[in-house]
Amino acid sequence: MCPRNSLAALPWFHEALPRLDSPPTTAYPRPIMYKHRVIDEPGRRLLRMTVNDSAIEIAVRPHKTLLEVLREDLFLTGTKHGCELGECGTCAILVDGEPVLSCLVLAIACEGKEIRTIEGMADGPELHPLQTTFADLGAAQCGYCTPGFLLTAQALLDENPDPTRQEIKNALAGNLCRCTGYLKIYEAVELAAKRMRNGSDSEAKR
Ligand code: FES
Ligand code: FES
Repeated sequence: MCPRNSLAALPWFHEALPRLDSPPTTAYPRPIMYKHRVIDEPGRRLLRMTVNDSAIEIAVRPHKTLLEVLREDLFLTGTKHGCELGECGTCAILVDGEPVLSCLVLAIACEGKEIRTIEGMADGPELHPLQTTFADLGAAQCGYCTPGFLLTAQALLDENPDPTRQEIKNALAGNLCRCTGYLKIYEAVELAAKRMRNGSDSEAKR
C-alpha cells in the first residue's frame, strides 16, 4: 500500500478534513451561507462570533490567530497574510468596528465579537464608496495591501466623516503599500468621504 493510501485508511485522516455543508466556491458568499460544524476533536475550542453579518460557530485550535482562522478555516482569503509581526497592516480587519491586526489576535479572543472582512464591505452588488474611489483614482496596483487600507479607512470615516489629510495619514500610518504610493490612497479616502457626506456619488462627481 502506498503511503498516501495508508494515510487515507486512518480514521483520523477523514476526521481532519474540513466539514462544510457545501464546499466553498470561488465567489465569496456574503453573508456566509454555509454552516461550520463543530469538529469533535481534542484540543479544539468552540468559537462563536459574527463574521460579515453571519453568526457562525466553529471549532478552532486555540493557538490559531484570527488571520489563520479567517483564511484557513473560513476561506475568507481577502484578508492578506503579510509580515505576521504587526508591521505591515495588510491583515487589518474590523473587530466591533475598530481596525485590528488579525495576525496579532488569537481567534479565541474574539468570542462574541463582530468581525468585518473585505468580503463583507460591499453591500451586495453595491461597492462601498471607498472601493469605488480606490478604483476610480487608481489607488491600488497589485492590490495586496488594499483590503487592509479599505477597512482601516472605513473605520476612520465611520468615526470622522470629514477627516483632514493629516488625520487620514495618521489613521493609515500602520498600513504599508509597496507599489501604489500613498498620495492616490489619501486622495481616494478624501473623495470617498466627500461622496459619503454628499450622500450620492453622482452629485459629488460634479
Ligand atoms: S500580517 Fe499582520 S501586520 Fe503584517
Ligand atoms: S497596491 Fe501593491 S502593495 Fe499596495
